[in-house]
Amino acid sequence: MSMSATAAPASQLDPWALPLDTLDPSDGTLYQRGLLHEYMRRLRREDPVHWSPTGPTGPYWSVTRFDDIVAIDSNHRAFSSDRDITVGDAPDDFAPRNFIAADPPTHDMQRKSVTPAVAPHRLAELEGLIRQRTAAVLDALPRGETFDWVDRVSIELTTQFLATLFDFPWEDRRLLPYWSDVTTSAEQVGNTSLPAEERERILMECLAYFTRLWAERAAQPPKFDFLSLLAHNPDTRDMVDEPLEFLGNLMLLIVGGNDTTRNSMSGGVIFMHDNPGEFAKLKADPGLAASAVPEIIRYQSPVAHMRRTALEDVEFHGRRIRKGQRVVMWYVSGNRDESVIERPDDFIIDRPRPRHHVAFGFGIHRCMGNRAAELQLRILWEEIVKRFPSGIEVVGEPERNMSNFILGITKLPVRIAA
Ligand code: HEM
Repeated sequence: MSMSATAAPASQLDPWALPLDTLDPSDGTLYQRGLLHEYMRRLRREDPVHWSPTGPTGPYWSVTRFDDIVAIDSNHRAFSSDRDITVGDAPDDFAPRNFIAADPPTHDMQRKSVTPAVAPHRLAELEGLIRQRTAAVLDALPRGETFDWVDRVSIELTTQFLATLFDFPWEDRRLLPYWSDVTTSAEQVGNTSLPAEERERILMECLAYFTRLWAERAAQPPKFDFLSLLAHNPDTRDMVDEPLEFLGNLMLLIVGGNDTTRNSMSGGVIFMHDNPGEFAKLKADPGLAASAVPEIIRYQSPVAHMRRTALEDVEFHGRRIRKGQRVVMWYVSGNRDESVIERPDDFIIDRPRPRHHVAFGFGIHRCMGNRAAELQLRILWEEIVKRFPSGIEVVGEPERNMSNFILGITKLPVRIAA
């Protein structure tokens, strides 16, 4: 995805040179330009509950400290997820609904119906299959020549896993990351690479495809894939009759199950390459994969933020958040909060409390697939250290996507020793 033609020049974006009250971290090119962490650092330090009057679809608050994020995320009664959970609002003429952007009881009912697909016993059943597929993908990689890790490994493995969660036709599986990328290429998250009408047209094709699959699943005995679970649960079996609600939930499950883990798989390769001492530790003790994985997720923070809407006036750190205002919790910042995490800008795979991060959120919306993501990543690193003793060499500049929401790597040229 290319940078927007209208994006501000880098000289106008230096967070330390700008007056504090003009700081707007929702510019979707900040991550691409390597500036996002500096924006967050300044906000944490100087204005941890920050008002930006010029958001993508209106003014918003930025909450950047770890403990404040946990406090807001845990308080769904005062801070609602209804309709929009990104800094900008979806346009009124195309706003698919889903359970991440809903409050109880709708949220609880819909989440409960699909959770069995990623429940602990189900993941235990899938572990062998994930390992076998990971081994096959790694064994097929070229040696001694440059290839794109994102396409060959990160997209392929997360797509295979998601195809299993949906029981999606195997030969068409690459449609899933395609639809995921289309979903996240939205103006409301700072991405201007795809015209809104084109995005809507492609997502309606996604809906048509899944509506056919739904009909098949509804006619078959119940199984543990997402569609079968929705089609057979009395609480959700009519969802197909509300096309935009069905589509919204598909978009949630596709992006949730794909993009986030994909970008952690790519980010991890960069972090291990940049920190050879950490890779050496992992090689010496592959059991460290269990703590390396949450560290990779913290360090990448593939979901940069979630947004809430205040349902009442709230006093917060001397600021008055008013009913109806948008509140953005910057997980990417909480994960680098120096008052909670020691040496937060260092990548350290054997931290004593590796899962003490906010990358999966908190409260009733806490990531439904967090164990599934960790499992895939752990297996990946266990299989990498078995095969590639000198690691994976990054041989070119990684390319990053345009977004204030999903922090991703779109290309990663690497080489594995012959
Ligand atoms: C490293 C990988 C992942 C990260 C960083 C991540 C991050 C997140 C975050 C930050 C939230 C919102 C939490 C909140 O609002 O408090 C979330 C929710 C969600 N995630 Fe993940 N996720 C990941 C992987 C996955 C996977 C593999 C799946 C599916 C298999 C998934 C499915 C979902 C769903 C369905 C929700 C909505 C939960 C709700 O609203 O109740 N995620 N995720």
